[in-house]
Amino acid sequence: MKIPDSKKTWWITNIVAICLFGSILAFFLYLEPASPVCSPKYAPAENPQDVKPNEKPIVLLWFWPLGVRFDFKICSTNFQIDSCVLTDDRSLYSKAHGVIFFQRDIAWNLDNMPQEPRPAFQKWIWFHVESPTNTGKVPGLVNLFNLTLSYRRYADINVRNDLTIRETEAKEDFVLPKKDKLVCWIVSNNNPQTGTAVREQYYRELSKHINISVFGRAYTGNVLSYDEYYSTIASCKFYLSFENSIHRDYITEKVNGPLVAGTVPVVLGPPRENYDQFLPADAFIHVNDFPDAKSLAAFLLDMKDEAYARYFEWRKFFTATPHLLSTQNEFIQPICLACKHMSRDREYHVMHDLYQWYFK
Ligand SMILES: *[C@@H]1O[C@H](CO)[C@@H](O)[C@H](O)[C@H]1NC(C)=O
Ligand SMILES: *[C@@H]1O[C@H](CO)[C@@H](O)[C@H](O)[C@H]1NC(C)=O
Repeated sequence: MKIPDSKKTWWITNIVAICLFGSILAFFLYLEPASPVCSPKYAPAENPQDVKPNEKPIVLLWFWPLGVRFDFKICSTNFQIDSCVLTDDRSLYSKAHGVIFFQRDIAWNLDNMPQEPRPAFQKWIWFHVESPTNTGKVPGLVNLFNLTLSYRRYADINVRNDLTIRETEAKEDFVLPKKDKLVCWIVSNNNPQTGTAVREQYYRELSKHINISVFGRAYTGNVLSYDEYYSTIASCKFYLSFENSIHRDYITEKVNGPLVAGTVPVVLGPPRENYDQFLPADAFIHVNDFPDAKSLAAFLLDMKDEAYARYFEWRKFFTATPHLLSTQNEFIQPICLACKHMSRDREYHVMHDLYQWYFK
């Protein structure tokens, strides 16, 4: 078929526009910090001998999340997870024990979902790491899945940057990094449609009373490279761990960054009780601990060294693990976790009322 030139141009323009829109969306919703890379410390090893090669479940990744491809080998090299066969080969659908669906890639009319009958043993895994504010309610999904893969506390497969308990109490090792800035914030997204108005307002008010060094695309041209992410945070006494939208359990890598770097996070997000479920209460400062931004600023400005040092006591008992920073790495870890889960969980599961659970 011969396509007239004008029509071709029309198509090209549209495809370019769609790609551009997709990247912008991806940028705003996913690459919030300057998406840096670090040398990670890895989760505890699982014994690959646990599962014999011929017994490994097949786990099919139905979509590459937002079209981002990565090497499944990262699961074994970086996370010591090798207990399933990960594949993107849809011809293995009828054999797959688990199929992972990335929520944001599911078409509104579901026409990019499997059309063949679903084997009775197969589990569908709902993969979603955005907050409810940034979640499209694709219809027809509420009773379709068996397992949830999410940051939510009661997800079947939990994706979080948890602290790990130290084997022995640390005596010496922590040395406070040199600080040459008081308060810092790395922020690349200030699109109010993603829920950022609350933090934006708090930041504006706080900045009237205390100097804040801001990095990232949202307010400055001062964009950090991957390598500068942890070192920049380390050079600040306090770091604004302000979530883009406020939801139960939505406590992200924005808190993990300063905990790893040796900086005190000042958090804005769900209530303190929710943070306390994941972190020692003395590891961070919550904006709600103060009646307003002005009194928070005064507290930060007046803090004595001794009081400051107490925010690092938790390090004797726990360690924070650096999160991976590139786009690829952001998606690979949850997929590795799903792989690990599938090799262990032989039970029947249904997830009813997905949205009721997720949005409540
Ligand atoms: C912020 O820093 C500037 C220059 O370093 C200084 O002049 C100003 O007084 C500071 N503002 C506050 C609120 O501390
Ligand atoms: C998975 O969930 C679907 C939909 O609720 C259900 O029909 C199916 O039996 C479940 N399968 C397994 C293996 O848990």
